[in-house]
Amino acid sequence: MKAPVRVAVTGAAGQISYSLLFRIASGEMLGKDQPVILQLLEITPALEALKGVAMELEDCAFPLLAGIVQSDDATVAFKDADYALLVGARPRGPGMERKDLLEANAAIFSAQGKALNDVASRDVKVLVVGNPANTNALIAQRNAPDLDPRNFTAMTRLDHNRALTQLANKTDSTVNDITHMTIWGNHSATQYPDLHQAKVNGEDAMGKVEQEWYETDFIPTVQQRGAAIIKARGASSAASAANAAIDHMRDWALGSAEGDWTSMGVYSDGSYGIAKGLIYSFPVVCKNGDWEIVQGVDINDFSREKMTATEQELAEERDAVAHLLP
Ligand code: NAI
Repeated sequence: MKAPVRVAVTGAAGQISYSLLFRIASGEMLGKDQPVILQLLEITPALEALKGVAMELEDCAFPLLAGIVQSDDATVAFKDADYALLVGARPRGPGMERKDLLEANAAIFSAQGKALNDVASRDVKVLVVGNPANTNALIAQRNAPDLDPRNFTAMTRLDHNRALTQLANKTDSTVNDITHMTIWGNHSATQYPDLHQAKVNGEDAMGKVEQEWYETDFIPTVQQRGAAIIKARGASSAASAANAAIDHMRDWALGSAEGDWTSMGVYSDGSYGIAKGLIYSFPVVCKNGDWEIVQGVDINDFSREKMTATEQELAEERDAVAHLLP
C-alpha cells in the first residue's frame, strides 16, 4: 500500500462536500491504491456540523481513509497538504452587489492563499470550486508567492461535463462518443463552450448540429445551467459539482484521457492572446501530475469574440479586487 497523501477540503460541512468527501475517501479521486488523510476546514459555527460529517465518514469504514483532521484554522487544515480543494466560499447575501461578493471572498481566499504558502506541500495541487472560482483562485495564487502559480486552478469541469451531455443528447450519441470539448474563460455566464474542435465518434460536431442550435440553444443552456438547477431543485448543484471536482483532480493527478483533452481554469501564460496571469479556462492535457495548455487550436472570429468577452469579465473581476492583491 502507498503512503497516505493529505487532502485538504474547505467548506467541508457544506452541500458539495457532503457528496465530495465520501468519494475522495473511497478512492474515486486518487485511485483505489492511494490512502488519504482528510484535513477538513470549516468556519467556527459549522464545526459541530462538521463533526457529524466526520462521524459519518468514520462509519463508512473506508479502507483508504487513513485519518481525519477537523479545524477552523487554515494553517492546521493545510499543513503538508498535497491536494487542496477550496470549496467553502461566501455566498451572495440579500442586497449584496457583485463587488461586495468579490471583496468578501477576496478576504477568505487571500487568507487561505497565505496559509497554503506557509504550511502546504510545495507541490500542493489547488482546485478552487467556491465562486467566483477563477478570481478566488487568482487571489489565493497571488497570496502564495512561494508556490508555483501553476499549482492554482479553478473548476470549469462541471461546465465541460454539462456541455458533453448537451451535445450527446442532441446528436443521439453518448458522452463516450464525444471528445475535444472545450470551455474557455470564466466559470460564469460569460464562459464560452466551444464545439469547433469537438468530435462525435471522431467526426466534427459542428457538421452534425445547426449553427442556430449552437448559438441559441447549446451555448446559453451550458452557460445558464447552474441557474436552471437552482430554479428546479431549489438549491445549487452539489452532487454534479462534487463529481466535477473529482474528475478535475483525478485527471490532474493521474492523467487525462489518452487522445483527448479536458477543460481547466489555469494560470494563463499568454496562450491564445489571453492576458498573462489570469486564471482562465483552456483546453488542457494532464500527464505525470502536470497540466499543459493545448496549443494550435483554430480560433475563428465567432470564437475570438466570445473568448475576449469572458477574458474581459475576468480582467474586471481582477481589477475590482486589485487593492487586495499583493
Ligand atoms: P454551502 O453553502 O452548502 O457550503 C459552503 C460551506 O463553506 C459552508 O459549510 C460554510 O460554512 C463554509 N465556509 C464558508 N466560508 C468558509 C471559510 N472561510 N473557510 C472554510 N469554510 C467556509 O455551499 P455549496 O453548495 O457546498 O457550494 C460551495 C461553493 O461552490 C459556492 O461558492 C458555490 O457557488 C460554488 N459552486 C461552484 C461550482 C463550479 O462549477 N465552480 C458549481 C457549484 C457550486
